[in-house]
Amino acid sequence: MAKTSVPLVVANWKLNPRTLGEAKKLFLDIRQGLGRRKSNVEVVVAAPFPFINELHRLSPSQRIKLSAQTSFPEKTGAHTGEVSLSMLSSVGVTYVIAGHSERRAAGETDDEVNAQVQAALKSKMTTILCVGEKKRDQHGNYLGVIETQLLAALHEVKSSQLKDLVIAYEPVWAIGTGNNASPHDAEEMRIFIEKVLSDRFNRAAAKKVRILYGGSVKRDNADALMADGDVDGFLVGGSSLKATEFVAIVNSAESYAKKQKVT
Ligand code: PGA
Repeated sequence: MAKTSVPLVVANWKLNPRTLGEAKKLFLDIRQGLGRRKSNVEVVVAAPFPFINELHRLSPSQRIKLSAQTSFPEKTGAHTGEVSLSMLSSVGVTYVIAGHSERRAAGETDDEVNAQVQAALKSKMTTILCVGEKKRDQHGNYLGVIETQLLAALHEVKSSQLKDLVIAYEPVWAIGTGNNASPHDAEEMRIFIEKVLSDRFNRAAAKKVRILYGGSVKRDNADALMADGDVDGFLVGGSSLKATEFVAIVNSAESYAKKQKVT
C-alpha cells in the first residue's frame, strides 16, 4: 500500500544513559550521524526529564525533536514528583509518550492513560499512545486486548484531535527480548488499529493517525518491518542507545519513504 504520511522514528531512552554528560554525547552522536541533509523522516528523542532542557539547546534547528516518556495531566498543584505538559512545553518538548507498557506494569491504569492522552492532545502535543498485548494465543484474543486499550485510552477524544495522535503498537513479548513481531504481525495490527479508529471516529480522521511498531527494532529488521509491515515508523528502545544503530534505523525509514515519494 502506498503511504503518504511522513515516517516517525522515536528513540525511547527509558532510564538511560546514566549521566547528563553521556546523554549529551549520545544526542550529539545521533545528530552528527543524521547529518545536515534535508530529510523526510521525523526523528524524536524521548529522554529522561533532567536531560531535556540541555538536549533542547543541542538541536537549535529542531532536526531532532524532544519527547517526554510520560506526563501528568494536571497543570499545577500538590502532586509531588509529577511533571506537567506546560513545564515540558516550556523546555522544548513537543511529543509525549502515554501508556508505555513498562509504566502500565508499574501500575498505570487505563483511566490514567486516558487522562494523560486527553490533556496532551488538548495542549497540542503530539501524543504517542502505546498499546500492546502481553502474550499471543491461537484464538486471536490479542486483538481484543488492543481494542480495549485503544477505546479506553481514547475515551472522550474528538476526531478533530486525531491529527496529533500517534499509536505505537508494542507487543510486550517483543520489548527488550530480541524477538520482534514479524512484518506480517505488524501489518495485521496496523490494519486492525486503523479499523478500530475508523469505527470509533471516522475513516478520514483515522487515516491521519500514524501507526508505529516497537519491540526489538534493529537495523536488521527495520527495512522489512517498514516495507512489509506497512508501519509509519518505529519506537526504538535498546537500539536507540547506540547512535550508529539508531541512525541506521532512521536511514531505513528514509529510504523507504523515498521509494514511496513521501515528502
Ligand atoms: P526495545 O524497546 O526496542 O528495547 O524492545 C521498545 C520500547 O519499549 O519502546
